[in-house]
Amino acid sequence: MMKDLLKNILNVIQSYCSQLVHCSKGLFIMEIAVRYCSKTKFGNTRRIAEAIADGIGIKAVSIADEKNLKEKADILFLGGAPYANIMAPELKEYAEGLDPKMVSKVVLFTTSNWSRRTVLALKKILNEKGLPVCEDYFYAHMLNIDGKIEAAKEFGIKMSR
Ligand SMILES: Cc1cc2nc3c(=O)[nH]c(=O)nc-3n(C[C@H](O)[C@H](O)[C@H](O)COP(=O)(O)O)c2cc1C
Repeated sequence: MMKDLLKNILNVIQSYCSQLVHCSKGLFIMEIAVRYCSKTKFGNTRRIAEAIADGIGIKAVSIADEKNLKEKADILFLGGAPYANIMAPELKEYAEGLDPKMVSKVVLFTTSNWSRRTVLALKKILNEKGLPVCEDYFYAHMLNIDGKIEAAKEFGIKMSR
């Protein structure tokens, strides 16, 4: 009875705070980071990054403002877009420079006109470093960012559980 009550309370708290995780060792806060590279004036990838972060209740940070990940992350959401068929060199550099000891798992997202190759290219770089990358990733077409904001929020919540 008491156990069920506590379980229910925990579920309610968890639905408000997706970073709170319950495991056999008790409750702990998952460290989650959202980093992105966004180059056009429309800020498509930035807007998706902000929606993902919003769902989780944290802030998205541009890799232009933070060159290296400063704090450990249980989950790192990382996103970018293709420009003339390749990701921005600074995003490639960022991924190549990630310390596998700082990140437990990466979740990718991308925006583009048609291509999803940024996800494939990032996955290859990260896997070669020994960094696990989730199969599931988030994609938004550049002309449908508004229509994907809610889905990006939900993706953030789902993937951080
Ligand atoms: C110079 C330039 C080149 C682009 N090349 C591609 C491309 O090769 N493939 C593609 O699918 N989209 C391409 N796009 C579309 C962008 O990937 C898309 O607009 C993306 O959402 C931009 O993200 P951002 O606003 O966060 O910079 C290109 C856009 C620009 C401005």
